[in-house]
Amino acid sequence: MKVGNKNYTTIWEDENNPGVIHVIDQRWLPHKFIIECLTSVDDVVKAIKEMHVRGAPLIGITAAYGIYLSAIEAKKNGLGINFIFESAEKIKSSRPTAKNLFWAIDEMLSILSNYQNLDKIIPFAQLISNEMADSDVEDCKNIGEHGFQIIKDIANKKSRGIESYPPTINILTHCNAGWLATVDYGTATAPIYIAHERGIKLHVWVDETRPRNQGAKLTAWELGENGIPHTVIIDNAGGHLMQKGMVDLVLVGSDRTTSSGDVANKIGTNLKALSAFDNNIPFYVALPSSTIDWDIEKGEDIPIEIRNPDEVRYVDGLNNNEIVNVLIPPETSPALNYAFDVTPSRLVTGLITERGICKANKESIADLFPDKVVKP
Ligand code: MRU
Repeated sequence: MKVGNKNYTTIWEDENNPGVIHVIDQRWLPHKFIIECLTSVDDVVKAIKEMHVRGAPLIGITAAYGIYLSAIEAKKNGLGINFIFESAEKIKSSRPTAKNLFWAIDEMLSILSNYQNLDKIIPFAQLISNEMADSDVEDCKNIGEHGFQIIKDIANKKSRGIESYPPTINILTHCNAGWLATVDYGTATAPIYIAHERGIKLHVWVDETRPRNQGAKLTAWELGENGIPHTVIIDNAGGHLMQKGMVDLVLVGSDRTTSSGDVANKIGTNLKALSAFDNNIPFYVALPSSTIDWDIEKGEDIPIEIRNPDEVRYVDGLNNNEIVNVLIPPETSPALNYAFDVTPSRLVTGLITERGICKANKESIADLFPDKVVKP
């Protein structure tokens, strides 16, 4: 997607320096656009853990490149193939909730374990990680096409009986499930970008998404760079806007979705779903199938990350051109920082995947992905 007039993806291998992986260091957005180079497993673990890169699909692709880098490191330092497996465990321990992290590493290992020689493994690891990045882009494009139909239907319905044509479709989103959370296009934002491109008038309500403010910082920035009208709202405003008829559709992403359609996403998503349900507003979740955990059926079994309480206690932002960090509660007040929550499938209108839209239930998901279902 666009940054200024230039197109970027969030992660790419240096054309002239194989083994150098470029990422956008998202900690500094929207105030600074900084590109970082990852060249070792430790760089990858740090980038995921400290959220230089974040968002389930992008975490997965970064992890895949981490396995590629581990093979290069093993060769350079005269270490055995075991280093790749040790690195896989290290990368897996960087964040617990996003399924894509585990999916990507297991995919890489299952293919690479056919080879015993690092000289063979390295080019394969390079090929597969690049292919995984490309297929993430394809998945998001397809999610965009399927999700576009939902927006188009809402626009058609809304245009009936309304004098001003075309009507504006108001979409509420939580956190950042945009191109920054994937390799390109995003999950929840892909239908939005396509609808905008095809002339549907849109406006996006962007939840600021405390404590890390991925909505205010990242979603607002990427929508702005790509010409999408939007307004940042406090996390608690969504229910009020829904009651007032100011939201036509809620569109969010997911970090892990169970085989029966319970959805883990950024903390606060569950409250939006409850309000959407109460106000009869469609609530869709956009996700590639790499986010689905085929081994877990119940949302309560999804591991939920608890992060540093200082993320709740402090807020950072721009002051006089400097990024500053300020304390909000009393110095001595403790804080608790659950990073995700689970929205039960009964509150989800549908899942938008790369293969199409399905209901958030076991049968409908299995119909779309018969090849992925784990047989009992
Ligand atoms: O903690 P983060 O920023 O890595 O959280 C991930 C997210 O941005 C969201 O939960 C998102 O909606 C799902 S990832 C497309």
